[in-house]
Amino acid sequence: MKRKSVGIVGAGNVGVAGAFAIYLQQLCSEIVLVDLDKARAEGEALDLMHGQGVTGRVKVKAGEFADLALCDVIVVTAGAAQKPGETRLDLLNKNAAIFKTITAELDQHAPNAVIVIASNPVDVITYIFQQLSSRPHSKVIGTGTVLDTSRLKTLLGEHYDVDPTSIHGYILGEHGDSEFAAWSTINIGGVPVVGNEVLGKAYDQQVIETLYHEVKDAAYKIIAGKGYTNWAIGVVIAKIVQVLFSDRASIHPISVRLQGEYGIEDVCISVPAKIGIGGVEQLVELNLSKDELKKLRQSADILKKNLASIDL
Ligand code: LAC
Repeated sequence: MKRKSVGIVGAGNVGVAGAFAIYLQQLCSEIVLVDLDKARAEGEALDLMHGQGVTGRVKVKAGEFADLALCDVIVVTAGAAQKPGETRLDLLNKNAAIFKTITAELDQHAPNAVIVIASNPVDVITYIFQQLSSRPHSKVIGTGTVLDTSRLKTLLGEHYDVDPTSIHGYILGEHGDSEFAAWSTINIGGVPVVGNEVLGKAYDQQVIETLYHEVKDAAYKIIAGKGYTNWAIGVVIAKIVQVLFSDRASIHPISVRLQGEYGIEDVCISVPAKIGIGGVEQLVELNLSKDELKKLRQSADILKKNLASIDL
């Protein structure tokens, strides 16, 4: 049988957090780390692999792009990261150039793998990768607002004193400043959060709005504190890898190319999508409120403007 291998391009803080989450959950038999800084990738691989006497066997090695040939899933975390005060979109021009090289290498060595983009601005990079790659668009997905949605569930879980995984619904749009909470989808144990008493707690619009703003600005706050974000995005990467490998047909708000859905054309943005072994299988067309649809389209317009500014 073929070995289940995951490739990670970029052995920085995000790549290593993703590798660690995959490793601890034993989601594959081998992780291959590729980084321009080979010494760093080798150091990280060695450090991770030494836990196998406790965790069980998951090989971790540093390699070249050619070593990704057997990987079914490749996570891309390479590129410049946000500095304090910088938006995700500010990174655009720094990262667009790097991606030309990475796409060409991955197309040459692993043309059939599903690519999971985590580099920022994730929606724009996912689109660029799709444009440059010969892979079908369904095989190139961005981590999108899975992270922001998890952040919102976490904060709502604290507020309502309930397990965040019992909270359902989505943050949609850009993974960035124009994202929005699709409140019409957000419920706790089936009770819509907006307008209802939930688990004995009265609805308080101001609290709910504050929580959304905390989610939207979470990365800025974390970066101001520790200089980068990595743990929660690492967990999100592992979740997506798990869904792909186990062919679960799970629905998550990942960044995907819209071609007319929600009245939006030709941009990658987060909406709920069904994901299985070959990548995106189907998009969910939510019955969004008028206001939510407007926010999704505005977010798409912002991303499109940014795409238009890049010379591919
Ligand atoms: C964050 C980065 C991954 O939101 O964009 O933590």
